[in-house]
Amino acid sequence: MPAIVIIGAQWGDEGKGKATDLLGSRIDYVVKFNGGNNAGHTVVIGNQKYALHLLPSGILTEGVIPVISNGVVIDIEVLFHELEALTARGVDVSRLRVSANAHIITHYHRTLDKVTERFLGKKQIGTTGRGIGPAYADKINRVGIRIQDLFDENILRPKVEGALEQKNHLLVKIYNRRAIGADEVVADLLSYAERLRPMVADTGLVLNQALDAGKTVLFEGGQATMLDVDHGTYPFVTSSNATSGGAATGSGVAPNRMERVIAVVKAYTTRVGSGPFPTELHDESGEFLRSHGFEWGTTTGRPRRCGWYDAPVARYSARINGVTDFVLTKLDVLTGLDRIPVCVAYDVDGVRVEEVPVSQSDFHHAVPIYEEFPGWTEDITGARTFDELPENARGYVLALEKMSGARISAIGVGPDREAIVVRHDLLG
Ligand code: GDP
Ligand code: IMO
Ligand code: MG
Repeated sequence: MPAIVIIGAQWGDEGKGKATDLLGSRIDYVVKFNGGNNAGHTVVIGNQKYALHLLPSGILTEGVIPVISNGVVIDIEVLFHELEALTARGVDVSRLRVSANAHIITHYHRTLDKVTERFLGKKQIGTTGRGIGPAYADKINRVGIRIQDLFDENILRPKVEGALEQKNHLLVKIYNRRAIGADEVVADLLSYAERLRPMVADTGLVLNQALDAGKTVLFEGGQATMLDVDHGTYPFVTSSNATSGGAATGSGVAPNRMERVIAVVKAYTTRVGSGPFPTELHDESGEFLRSHGFEWGTTTGRPRRCGWYDAPVARYSARINGVTDFVLTKLDVLTGLDRIPVCVAYDVDGVRVEEVPVSQSDFHHAVPIYEEFPGWTEDITGARTFDELPENARGYVLALEKMSGARISAIGVGPDREAIVVRHDLLG
């Protein structure tokens, strides 16, 4: 049985939990391989709504073993908060496995995230303020603190002291903040060690052994392709690899074991934070998408920027990730629009460009070239087969499929777990 990757095709919040949910009981392990508690997944099951940040949304599927692998940055306080909240609601979280190699987000990473953003002023990235960037920076700079360091104070303390030596200079002299004491950081981290110990594992080994034993492993990407630190709209990105390649480096499972790559794509586009977004709308159509799609951030509550579907972005995602299937979400949000524009190419300085331009400044002033499709007014939230969709909704989906570079295998028609139309088996 295979390893399957689910990633976001746009700028996040595509409804990745919906795709995970669709695979449901056929999954044995679900792995978060990148990012941290910058992610926000809302999953609606029956009359229950769950908002998860650090834990993979697959944790809600009974019987599944959730794994946080080496590519993740972990805020331990948030981890325990989420585990306690789920336990209180009757979710069994006892099988969670956490990589000994995952890096830790500490107090000083959160502080640095906030002060550097403030310092950037108008040029800020609009981060979630969770300490993600500074924690990954320390990892790459080889001064990060890993989960395994919590179990040996003689290693932990000098590492924290070393990291703080430089950071306190920055905080005090540049940012005019108070210095952070190593003692308080070490004491805070050690206070979690014993609770964490039973969860800690060599998750790369666990996952490879599971695959050898014929289990199905699902890799659930946080963020999305256009927020990927290598392939996204740098520097307006997150600090990890949110694309399918990140599933391999972020977990210790080799790329040739990944058999399917499922990209979740919204029937329109949203983005939180700063950075280029060619199809962004600043008019009543944008308001329509925001209010009908409830486009406010799960993590920070910020209104999401909204715009039309961008086919070159979908094609780019299909290419970068090796997408085998798209799950198109939130088609129901478009109900009631007379005409639905779709960006099919860009105008860059008078030249028609078919693909996402490699130059960031070209992408910044790329003007979308739209093709318009007729809308529908019928309520589609009850549709469960493709044939039950109105003709114009089917036409819209087929048009997107043709320009997006992979088949559209499932279509979200409402927030509920059941509100989905399946066209092709995602594992078939
Ligand atoms: P994620 O970050 O990709 O996990 O997505 P979020 O949870 O941040 O945002 C997706 C939102 O869309 C959630 O509130 C979902 O409940 C909702 N959602 C998912 N699929 C659909 C759909 O097909 N229709 C509608 N109306 N809402 C959906
Ligand atoms: P999910 O998993 C949407 C954005 C932030 C900011 C940029 C960098 O719910 O799709 P960071 O805190 O990561 O350093 O912020 O990335 N961002 C997201 N936008 N959905 C997310 O996650 C995001 N995670 C980070 O808004 O622009
Ligand atoms: Mg989200």
